[in-house]
Amino acid sequence: MKGSTKIIAVGAFGLLALMGLAACKGNKADLPEPAAVGEPAEGGTAMDVQKQPFGQTPDGTAVEIYALTNDKGLKAHVMTYGATLVSLEVPDRTGKLGDIVLGYEALDGYIKNSPYFGSIVGRYGNRIAKGRFTLDGATYQLATNNGENHLHGGIKGFDKVVWKAEPVREAGAVGVKFSYLSRDGEEGYPGNLAVTVVYSLTNANELRISYEATADKATPVNLTHHSYFNLAGGGDVLGHELTINAEGYTPVDAGLIPTGEIRPVKDSPFDFTTPHSIGERIAQVEGGYDHNFVLRGGGGMMDLAVRVYEPKSGRIMEISTTEPGLQFYSGNFLDGTITGKGGKAYLKHCGFCLETQHFPDSPNKPNFPSTILRPGAVYKSLAIHKFSTI
Ligand code: GLA
Repeated sequence: MKGSTKIIAVGAFGLLALMGLAACKGNKADLPEPAAVGEPAEGGTAMDVQKQPFGQTPDGTAVEIYALTNDKGLKAHVMTYGATLVSLEVPDRTGKLGDIVLGYEALDGYIKNSPYFGSIVGRYGNRIAKGRFTLDGATYQLATNNGENHLHGGIKGFDKVVWKAEPVREAGAVGVKFSYLSRDGEEGYPGNLAVTVVYSLTNANELRISYEATADKATPVNLTHHSYFNLAGGGDVLGHELTINAEGYTPVDAGLIPTGEIRPVKDSPFDFTTPHSIGERIAQVEGGYDHNFVLRGGGGMMDLAVRVYEPKSGRIMEISTTEPGLQFYSGNFLDGTITGKGGKAYLKHCGFCLETQHFPDSPNKPNFPSTILRPGAVYKSLAIHKFSTI
């Protein structure tokens, strides 16, 4: 039964015990372990996807969590609330697994206070100035939830809704397909939007996130994934070395809205065309990194967008995408007020996000690649996170 996948719904899942580790000292969460089913593949474990209950939202909607394992032993948990990646365990250079994403052990934290930990962000990832745009002659006013601006889909974005889910089994991969129908007028957006997002864990040690959407009226769409990574599994992320395949970025105003300019990164702290640590020049960037990088290739191609190397653990993450942009956010707003996995405070720069996307505020920036999805067309986007060590 090599490579077989099974799904088993198991009984009630109680409150999770805390590990007692400092959050910035280790992200390991005590999440449901996949039961040992299926024959282990040579030198590894059997691919597996299993579902468990994960509590309910305040309105009584049941939430489920899926445990994914590939043949090499990589593990991930994804839940139906926000189509959220709750944990991702990958080996370090000694083969020891560590959880490399920030978040909570239990649903409660995600509902009460989550800065988009691991979630799918939509209908429009990042900001739309004043929550306003004009499309085909009509002006739309979206919900504003970030000062005067619209951020990450509004007050109740795709990160705060419960998605439908079903397991997916493919040759060499195991995953979960999430779907959600965003209704006409939700958060101010025009048209019904049917969205699917598939997370899969492949035997090539990749986490693939594949998005599709269709609409019955023209609407802006910009979907992304908002994990906070820490490849060391703890501590701050300033020593992580980044190479970003971008010769330009989009400078922003004080409200983090792009000015419209595409500025060369050359001779600036935004130049990651050769490897630099996150911390090396961060002091020269007011507020820290929270910028959209204009990827070489311009989207539509599966180019390597970014490579991250963490020297202590030896872990490497490489992200390829079909998107033209990449938001690099260095966890600037984490300030110790959130107690996450391990029961301790998430401090500033405790994790970073690399969000594959179209550019922020594109509906108001005619010179940026269009984010408008029209009826009859299919929105498609793919991001592949590949893990290795040296
Ligand atoms: C994105 C934005 C940031 C911030 C975080 C969430 O990455 O670019 O400005 O809003 O999400 O805190």
